[in-house]
Amino acid sequence: MAKLFEPLQIKSVTLKNRIAVSPMCEYSSEDGFANDWHLVHLGSRAIGGAGLIVMEATAISPEGRITPADMGIWKDDHITNLQRITTFIHQHDAVAGIQLAHAGRKASNNVPWQGGKEIAISEGGWKVLSASAIPFHEGADLPIELTTDGIKKVTGDFKAAAQRALTAGFKVIEIHAAHGYLINQFLSPFSNQRTDEYGGIFENRVRLLVEVVTAIKTVWPDNLPLFVRISATEWKEGGWDIQQSVQLSKLLKDLGVDLIDCSSGGNIGNVKIPLVAGYQVPLSAQVKKEATILTGAVGLITTAQQAESILQNEQADIIFLARELLRNPYFPLQAARSLNFDIKWPVQYERAK
Ligand SMILES: Cc1cc2nc3c(=O)[nH]c(=O)nc-3n(C[C@H](O)[C@H](O)[C@H](O)COP(=O)(O)O)c2cc1C
Repeated sequence: MAKLFEPLQIKSVTLKNRIAVSPMCEYSSEDGFANDWHLVHLGSRAIGGAGLIVMEATAISPEGRITPADMGIWKDDHITNLQRITTFIHQHDAVAGIQLAHAGRKASNNVPWQGGKEIAISEGGWKVLSASAIPFHEGADLPIELTTDGIKKVTGDFKAAAQRALTAGFKVIEIHAAHGYLINQFLSPFSNQRTDEYGGIFENRVRLLVEVVTAIKTVWPDNLPLFVRISATEWKEGGWDIQQSVQLSKLLKDLGVDLIDCSSGGNIGNVKIPLVAGYQVPLSAQVKKEATILTGAVGLITTAQQAESILQNEQADIIFLARELLRNPYFPLQAARSLNFDIKWPVQYERAK
């Protein structure tokens, strides 16, 4: 039996296989609304056989958007269009998840195909927020350091977003605590130089994430999975590292988090990242082993055999694929064939099997 196609039950949710669509910003929303692009994009990957489909980084507040075109879930009006997408995904035997996000100091940018640079306030940008008033890079907008009330608002926005995600029909929430976005900015000593209870020692830097998890748990049912994506290392001495990730994962497990999605980097520039096939897999393996929690591996995983061997070697429980699934939405159908495993194809496509 191919492990890639072994079902995985997490709480009341069963994933039919271990292939997850990694969250990918489409920068195709207006005022945060999902539209036909998202239905077709995510719907194709449901038809293509992925077990779990995680909607892109979805902003919990307008100021938490990376770009003005980000997906959003900060108002009830967003729910109906999202519901259409979750319904379609579930009709095709996949599970719909959503990544809840706040970009912090990495907000207020143009979309990548317009250069991805900061938008001036005079041109429709907005003041960005962070753990400390430290810009993402030299020349970037100086963020406003969040006050305690500002932090409470962030936590409340995550909670309200989780409630809306539930109403919209999502069955998995992934909290975005990676890639240098707001929660990651609190975790890292490079971007967090606060002197209050949210800065300094490990327990303080993780406090925002702990509070976000706790707030979400008050509205997110106990029988539905909760994931957290972390940057398990920032690849720089003196920064957030794998040991802290293991410690954090143990803490999150005790709070009821089900899976740690192990990515890396994104909070600081000028670091050397070893961009080889499966380069983040050892991070997932270490978190899985030392924190004894389910993990997801992600990053430069492109073949069925590679994905299968990660699972066989117990380095992860789920494989998140991003760019390979952009190249080929039918990767799961083809992966099954290449692992000599028979899976159900959509009836409409059976003549091509
Ligand atoms: C177009 C695009 C958009 C992305 N948007 C997000 C996002 O919204 N949230 C996130 O956590 N990662 C995002 N990522 C990172 C991917 O989820 C993934 O971690 C990364 O691309 C490495 O996996 P891959 O080698 O399979 O592409 C994005 C990647 C791409 C290519």
